[in-house]
Amino acid sequence: MRDLVAETRLDPSMLILPVFVDANATAPTEIASLPGHARVPAREVPRIAERAIAAGIGGLLLFGLPGEKDDRGEGAADPLGPVPMALRALRDAAGPELVRIADVCLCEYTTHGHCGVVTIEGAIDNDATLPLLASAARTYAEAGADVVAPSDMMDGRVAAIRQELDGANLSETAILAYSAKYASSFYGPFRDAADCAPRFGDRAAYQMDPRNGREALAEIAADLAEGADMFMVKPAGPYLDVIAAARARFDAPLAAYQVSGEYAALHAAAARGWIDLRRAALESLTGIARAGADVIVTYFALEAAAWIGER
Ligand code: PBG
Repeated sequence: MRDLVAETRLDPSMLILPVFVDANATAPTEIASLPGHARVPAREVPRIAERAIAAGIGGLLLFGLPGEKDDRGEGAADPLGPVPMALRALRDAAGPELVRIADVCLCEYTTHGHCGVVTIEGAIDNDATLPLLASAARTYAEAGADVVAPSDMMDGRVAAIRQELDGANLSETAILAYSAKYASSFYGPFRDAADCAPRFGDRAAYQMDPRNGREALAEIAADLAEGADMFMVKPAGPYLDVIAAARARFDAPLAAYQVSGEYAALHAAAARGWIDLRRAALESLTGIARAGADVIVTYFALEAAAWIGER
C-alpha cells in the first residue's frame, strides 16, 4: 500500500550518467575520487552506452579531457577532440534510445583551468568567451549531440549558442543550460577527474553565491528567455529549496546535478561502514526528485537504475 500511495517515484529513464572522455587515455583509467568511474578513450564510449541502454537510463553527459590545453581553450571546439570523437562513435554504434548530451565549457581545455578567457589583469572576459563556447557547441552538435549543456556560467551564452546553432542549420539541437550553478566545494572530485581546477583564484566571479536563492530564479528566467529548452540546478542536495522554488515558478524541464562531491561523500561514509550506500543513494535521489527535478544527473545512474528495478 505504501508503494501505491507513494508521492515520488524514481525511474531509470530520468537519470543521466556523466562520462569522462580522455584523449590521452588508451584504456579506462580509474578515478580515485569517483569510485566506479574512469577516464575512458572515445572508442570505449559505445560500450558504456550499451550498459546505459540495458539499464534503461535516459542519457549520457560527456565531458572531454583534451590532448593539449591552451590559454583560450580552443581545444573545446576541435572536431577531432575527445567529445566529438565519442559522439561520432556513438552515432555509429548506439541507437536513438539514449540522449547524448555534451557539456560545453572551457575549463577542461584551458591551461589556467578557468571556464572563460582570462584578461592580462587576471579577470574573466565574459564576452570574449561567448564565441568560443558557441563554436564548441556547434562542433558537438555537428558530431551528433542531441543536447548541448553550457556549464561555464558566462552571461549571454545561451543566446550566443542558440544563434550559432540556428545559423548552422542545427535548430533541432536542444540546449540544457546550467542556469543555477553555485560556486561549490562539492566539485572537488570532478576537478581531479577532469583536471580542471583553476590554477589561480576561484570561480566565484561567474558561479553563484551559495547564499542566494532568488538570484537563481533570475538566472533561470534569463536562460529560458535566451532560448534554453531545459535548465539545471547544481549541486542538487544542498540546493533542494532552489529546485523546489524553480519547479514552482517555471514549467520547462528541470534537471538537477548530484555532483561529484555528493557522490564521493556517500561512498566515503559507506566505505567506513557508517551508512548503507544503496539506501543512502536512493534516498538522496528521491529527495532530489521530490523537490521537483524531472531529470537527475548522477554518478549513481547505472547502479541506481539496477537498485530501482530490484525494489
Ligand atoms: C565545468 C564543470 C564542473 C562540473 C561540471 N562542469 C566543474 C566546475 O565548475 O568547477 C562539476 C561536476 C561535478 O562536480 O560532478 N565547468
